[in-house]
Amino acid sequence: MKTLILYTTTYGLTKTMAEKLAEKITGDVDCINLMNQTQVDLKAYKHLIFGGSIYMGQIQKKMKQFCTENEREILEHPVSLFLCCGVNENFKTNLENAFPKRIIDHSKNKVSFGGLLNTDQMKFMHKTITKLMVKSSEKEGKALPKPNLDAIEGLAETLNADIA
Ligand SMILES: Cc1cc2nc3c(=O)[nH]c(=O)nc-3n(C[C@H](O)[C@H](O)[C@H](O)COP(=O)(O)O)c2cc1C
Repeated sequence: MKTLILYTTTYGLTKTMAEKLAEKITGDVDCINLMNQTQVDLKAYKHLIFGGSIYMGQIQKKMKQFCTENEREILEHPVSLFLCCGVNENFKTNLENAFPKRIIDHSKNKVSFGGLLNTDQMKFMHKTITKLMVKSSEKEGKALPKPNLDAIEGLAETLNADIA
């Protein structure tokens, strides 16, 4: 049976990471952007993978709403969760804010795919916040977030062992 990767994104890193993950998973994989498509037939899939990105501590509303509305059905599948976020130390809190508790407890894999602060396409407010975040990171000598490709590799390996 097929695997579903369902994701939400604001500036595209989560889309890129979801598509890279899809390439590495064996068998049939559908990679769907919930920002564009809100009707998804979960019955068509075995493994479900949900991912989104974090802004001011929260995932995109569409992901939160989808998981809340479909919780019962989601819990009938093997589930993995991932986040793209800038502050890795906050991963656990970000995850708890992003997904219903029962889905988190049920999920076998919960992974941070790192983050990217690319101001090119950002709206004014986000650009301003990002510049402040970058300044504060530089002041504290902290590295800027970057996408974690090893985390994709790791999740794909775990899932492929389950799918085989
Ligand atoms: C305005 C703004 C607020 C953010 N807030 C958070 C946050 O609260 N916690 C966090 O870990 N990352 C935060 N980030 C980092 C994003 O989660 C990160 O850039 C992520 O890669 C965005 O993914 P996307 O391009 O798929 O939307 C923020 C980024 C921006 C631009």
